[in-house]
Amino acid sequence: MSVPLDGRRIVVSAGPTYEDIDPVRFVGNRSSGKMGFAVAAAAARRGAEVVLVAGPVALATPAGARRVDVRSAAQMREAVFAALPADAYIGAAAVADYTPRHPSPDKVKKTGETLVLELVRTPDILAELGVHALRPRRLVGFAAETGDVARYAQDKLARKRLDMIAANRVGVAGQGFEGDDNALVVYWPGGERALGPAPKTELAERLLDLVFPD
Ligand code: PMT
Repeated sequence: MSVPLDGRRIVVSAGPTYEDIDPVRFVGNRSSGKMGFAVAAAAARRGAEVVLVAGPVALATPAGARRVDVRSAAQMREAVFAALPADAYIGAAAVADYTPRHPSPDKVKKTGETLVLELVRTPDILAELGVHALRPRRLVGFAAETGDVARYAQDKLARKRLDMIAANRVGVAGQGFEGDDNALVVYWPGGERALGPAPKTELAERLLDLVFPD
């Protein structure tokens, strides 16, 4: 029996961010938004007031969720902070870590044999939330890793001052980006729980059970 979430406000981020190089090209990633949308849908079904901050994805808005569409990491940060205060933030978005330093207002022309793109760090939304005055009481991150999943996830849990982190392996078939299924290991200080492999819709429910045990 899942815990009702009436009266709770939950902010969920989902999908990729696109960092523009010029009006034609961008730096992006393979996130489809399915994992985050599943979390938002499950939370709304349980009665929470859900703000879904979505990167560029082609998915229908979950019933009952308020969706804010964004493109870049900077826009995602702005939308997440505008949605505070909240009881929980669940960061399923694959936020770009770097963005072009000088996006060009015009299409970059093919002039040389090589092209060097200078990238600068984006704001780390989750890490900022960890030390913010309006830090949600439950701060949940995701970690997408190709190897050494436990070590990197636990490092992010501590470094970003999270309550919980859901780690998934990417770059292997049947989990991570794009597909309908995934497998998570959820870590919190002093504990962990493996979830799946299972459909992302099912994992979203099990994750909410851990985030809101009562
Ligand atoms: O969207 P799908 O196709 O369904 O795929 C799901 C998923 C693989 C994208 C999802 O399950 C997942 O792992 N999301 C997090 C991906 C990611 O960016 O992980 P990370 O290890 O690079 O980042 C760690 C955490 O910091 C994440 O919660 C991320 O949202 C957050 N972050 C990262 C960078 C940044 N600038 N700001 C952030 O808030």
